[in-house]
Amino acid sequence: MAPCQSLLFLFIISLYVTLTAPANSLPAFFPPPAAYQSLIKQAKAPKPNLPFKTHYFPQTLDHFTFHPKSYKIFNQKYLINTQYWHKGAPIFVYTGNEGHIDWFAANTGFMLDIAPKFKDLIVFIEHRFYGESMPFGKDSYKSAKTLGYLTSQEALGDFAVLIRSLKQNLSSETSPVVVFGGSYGGMLAAWFRLKYPHIAIGALASSAPILQFDKIIPWSSFYDAVSQDFMFSFITKTKRGIQDVSQNCYEVIKGSWAELETISTQKEGLAELSKAFRTCKRLHLTASVLGWLWTAFVYTAMVNYPTEANFLKPLPAYPVQRICKIIDKYPSGATKLSRAFAAASLYYNYSQTENCFEVEHEVNTHGLHGWDWQTCTEMVMPMTCSSESMFPQTGFDYKMFAEQCQMKYGVSPRQHWITTEFGGEVSIFYSFMSLSIQIVLRNISVSIIALVTEKGAHHVDFWAATKDAPDWLVELRRQEVEIIQKWLKEYYLDLRQA
Ligand SMILES: *[C@@H]1O[C@H](CO)[C@@H](O)[C@H](O)[C@H]1NC(C)=O
Ligand SMILES: *[C@@H]1O[C@H](CO)[C@@H](O)[C@H](O)[C@H]1NC(C)=O
Ligand SMILES: *[C@@H]1O[C@H](CO)[C@@H](O)[C@H](O)[C@H]1NC(C)=O
Repeated sequence: MAPCQSLLFLFIISLYVTLTAPANSLPAFFPPPAAYQSLIKQAKAPKPNLPFKTHYFPQTLDHFTFHPKSYKIFNQKYLINTQYWHKGAPIFVYTGNEGHIDWFAANTGFMLDIAPKFKDLIVFIEHRFYGESMPFGKDSYKSAKTLGYLTSQEALGDFAVLIRSLKQNLSSETSPVVVFGGSYGGMLAAWFRLKYPHIAIGALASSAPILQFDKIIPWSSFYDAVSQDFMFSFITKTKRGIQDVSQNCYEVIKGSWAELETISTQKEGLAELSKAFRTCKRLHLTASVLGWLWTAFVYTAMVNYPTEANFLKPLPAYPVQRICKIIDKYPSGATKLSRAFAAASLYYNYSQTENCFEVEHEVNTHGLHGWDWQTCTEMVMPMTCSSESMFPQTGFDYKMFAEQCQMKYGVSPRQHWITTEFGGEVSIFYSFMSLSIQIVLRNISVSIIALVTEKGAHHVDFWAATKDAPDWLVELRRQEVEIIQKWLKEYYLDLRQA
């Protein structure tokens, strides 16, 4: 069966597949991993009504070698809010991930919410090769020669250099720094604390798939967890105990792939699918439908927020439950595939403004994206779909993956580099995400704390507080604040005694 790979490849590979696969077979499909990155690229940078001032820092291209080329300077964007801060008070830094920093600032209201309490300076630093922080301007993505400087270690070096410079300029060398990050940004925050413990006293890593490397956790964890979200989307407590009423939802989705495959083998299959899926253009490939459905289910699980939200797309509160309701309430006799379509339509058309669906995505003509490069070099996060999941069973074929990277960039992934550089289980404070087991779900030591909640969604704790937030979320945020307070207290105590 097809290898289960990075979502970031989704768009590029689907093009590749379009060009090479015969239209009557169900070709290789590469499902999402650290899932939402490719959508981050599509997310528009929010309008600049954020309470931050934009700055640019002259950053060094290569922190780790002294080759003449290493000294090249580029402008790294960062945002700052000084509204509550006074000299000596803490500095809270968001370690930017793979996208425009404004977008992360707009979606991390938690840091603004807690600022009055901590009187901290808030800083959001953009990751090199994303947003406006392009080391080689328009040529940054030109080839492996330029992209070679896109690594997590260089990004951490950037954060360290920038934070030190900022503290010096503000004459606040003794201000304690706490780093924050969600998803890949959470991985960076955790690794930053590990590599630069003299610069950051703590890290809050939310929904960071930090264990999705090598064989630290089973490769099937992610898709198993997504499937569980659908399986247990409704838990109703009855007099006879807990009753799961969404087994049907899981079964329907799981069964829809075979129906899709059957249609795809029929002569007029693609025409039929184009009609049934209300596609804007006639389909060329069944795999596009597979990808379209797949994306809807995975992303809905990731953004299964308890309140209405517009992170990737506008969605209602608890969208997984809504999807399962659509499936359950569908007239009996309907095919599984048509139910799956109706369910996915919630994801793509909650705004009710779509006239048709772009099931076959427009592929970026450059074909190069930062996260693709990262997965082809160091971010090798193997994922598979087991028979327990609701997705078609797939494995991970490292060789084929490496060949694709060679083809695209002329480089081979270093499969074990991340665990060599950062180790497996690292030392920080992880907040949780129930969706996925790739993150840390147990306390590793007294100082490495994992906060796990049963419900939840991709770094939901980082959203701005809302009035309708459920109790568990309010409690999670309260715990996070309390832990950071404890770190700061210890720091100031040590400082006084020093
Ligand atoms: C600190 O000041 C120097 C000199 O003005 C400037 O070049 C640098 O960008 C400043 N650092 C930060 C982080 O803004
Ligand atoms: C999107 O929703 C609106 C409102 O329900 C509906 O009229 C329209 O047909 C839907 N679009 C598609 C492509 O199904
Ligand atoms: C880890 O420890 C914290 C604080 O002691 C506690 O609140 C939390 O529930 C623990 N997490 C797990 C997963 O046991």
